Amino acid sequence: MAVDTRKILVTSALPYANGPIHLGHMLEYIQTDIWVRFQKLRGHKCTYVCADDTHGTPIMLKAQQLGMTPEEMIAKVAIEHQADFADFLVEFDNYHSTHSDENRKWATEVYNRLNQGGYIATRTIEQLFDPEKEMFLPDRFVKGTCPKCKAEDQYGDNCEVCGSTYSPAELINPQSVVSGATPVMKQSEHYFFDLPQFKEVLQQWTTSGALQSEMANKLNEWFEQGLQQWDISRDAPYFGFEIPGTDGKKFFYVWLDAPIGYMGAFDNLCQKRDDLNFEEYWGADSDAELYHFIGKDIIYFHSLFWPAMLNGAKLRMPTNVFAHGYVTVNGEKMSKSRGTFIKARTYLDHLHPEYLRYYYAAKLNDRIDDLDLNLEDFAQRVNSDMVGKLVNIASRTAGFIAKRFDSKLAAEVENPALLAEFQNAQESIAKLYESREYGKAIREIMALADKANGYIAEMAPWAMAKQEGMEQKTHEVCSMGIHLFRILMTYLKPVLPQMAQNVEAFLNSELRWERIDDTLTGHEIAPFKALIQRIEPAKIEAIVEATKQDLAAEQAAAAPKAELEQNDELSKEPIVDTIDFDTFAKVDLRVARIAKASHVEGADKLVQLTLDLGGETRNVFAGIKSAYNPEDLEGRLTIMVANLAPRKMKFGVSEGMVLAAGPGGKDIHILSPDSGAIPGQRVM
Ligand code: MSP
Ligand code: ZN
Repeated sequence: MAVDTRKILVTSALPYANGPIHLGHMLEYIQTDIWVRFQKLRGHKCTYVCADDTHGTPIMLKAQQLGMTPEEMIAKVAIEHQADFADFLVEFDNYHSTHSDENRKWATEVYNRLNQGGYIATRTIEQLFDPEKEMFLPDRFVKGTCPKCKAEDQYGDNCEVCGSTYSPAELINPQSVVSGATPVMKQSEHYFFDLPQFKEVLQQWTTSGALQSEMANKLNEWFEQGLQQWDISRDAPYFGFEIPGTDGKKFFYVWLDAPIGYMGAFDNLCQKRDDLNFEEYWGADSDAELYHFIGKDIIYFHSLFWPAMLNGAKLRMPTNVFAHGYVTVNGEKMSKSRGTFIKARTYLDHLHPEYLRYYYAAKLNDRIDDLDLNLEDFAQRVNSDMVGKLVNIASRTAGFIAKRFDSKLAAEVENPALLAEFQNAQESIAKLYESREYGKAIREIMALADKANGYIAEMAPWAMAKQEGMEQKTHEVCSMGIHLFRILMTYLKPVLPQMAQNVEAFLNSELRWERIDDTLTGHEIAPFKALIQRIEPAKIEAIVEATKQDLAAEQAAAAPKAELEQNDELSKEPIVDTIDFDTFAKVDLRVARIAKASHVEGADKLVQLTLDLGGETRNVFAGIKSAYNPEDLEGRLTIMVANLAPRKMKFGVSEGMVLAAGPGGKDIHILSPDSGAIPGQRVM
């Protein structure tokens, strides 16, 4: 290991194990992965760990809703999450779980140390309790009428209509979201982490490192407002780790053991790798660097609670915490109904991961600004930069080298000054990566790509090749294109690892940072294969469409909440979302007499019915041929939807629908009213 090799431990926030990874999440994992790959490319010892965040009430309830144990659910999600990350080329050194032995060990250890240090206090608090589910309710699990503006159906912590915040106890007509029961106030003893004792330590930490200025400002605001004790316990039933000495009654709040999950994941890795030592990275006098990449919504946890916990437990504090902003799509918050709440998997079903890696990189900076994924701009930018500029350099020159020069690069460098310019950019590009100014790095790299293309256009090897005596020059110019391309791809390797790998195969040479100054003169290369395709706009439409379909499927499967009340294990049959009465009343159901029923020539499923609505008749095609002889139907009463828009079918126009039940085949049963019903009567 070189003398100046750094030891770096990097984390991304641990995604919750109750939902799929989406493109918002991916910003963070791509941002971190690029940084880690860059550090490794530069020869540093950099380790990247992450895990699923598996504890807490929402995860417990979601598992119940799915009719699984939490362990089953998190095991399933762990597989999905890791497949998503792997397919986006996010390369963790370890991906673990907060529901692990290592994490239990460290959560308990950290808590015990805090307790011994005198940083844990207990206090009895009053909280809303669901008497039917027999559980305390987090604010988000209580709904009711806003005490300020009287808007109905508001959450227990704030009103989305008037924006006021309040305690759930102030809600009018509160209801448990879990069971529908009216919650009662109940007392319980809670455990608190005494954050105010760490004010000075935290202030020092804030000023010692190089925190993002927005984060430092935020922290100063919090210091001014005064730090509060933090409630770290939850009552059973809770999916999490038991607090030592509480007889199974108290559990660590998910946010206590979640960041400790960083340690758990690293500890687990240390057991698999001889070259990593836990104490060396987490001990109070560690000389390793520790960085957490997070989103702007979880700064409080990472810049106050977490460093304080570490300090109180006599462990090292983070070197820095890097926060990014939120992804918006087409200028707006990601939205399921607009089809912009795009799952990682949905994207991957249609597009190559490196497009998104490139686009995010091109737009990232070191600040906490939100980042807009404009789908049109995305396609255009990727097509023009990656395909039009970058790959173009190689595709315009590689063919000549293969065909005319025996796949060997020229012995001489045609334009040493231009090559040096490309090589000399390495320090400035490295600085930009290091400081997470990826957008600026990409701009610098693309400016060089423009120069390379300009050079090739000016030299026009395709014209040169036709000229007498220009053989060697043509060879040198084309080789120059490959030299420049090699340097650009080395710079882009952290962003485009798979393409870099393909380029390595093409160049017969590994892309390494310390080889930027080398030149592949006289080197033999492999045949050039297409590196990347353009993004077709249809692919993007397909993603948006698939996302909308996901929403429709989700809604069809959403279980009415009342179901939770009777039965912890919900029926797995898809249950349609409830509709209000007005929606139902729009359906005009009528009693109808089947005046005439006949076979339809050429149709294997349909029967043609003439329905008498008491004065008015309707022509309806019904798919009931497999269960009925038309002649048996004549004269019967049934129920029909009378206001269904007419539908043009192959055999004529159908003016409504007859109601029937059953799976199909012989097992279809049309509905009939009790005797006494009159054709034309409205059914309610
Ligand atoms: N489980 C916690 C983190 C615990 S870390 C000890 C959590 N999970 S999360 O799944 O909600 O989010 C994981 C990360 O993704 C967070 O850093 C969060 O900020 C980030 N993002 C979630 N949605 C995002 C966007 N729409 N845009 C950018 N980042 C987003 O929080
Ligand atoms: Zn309100």
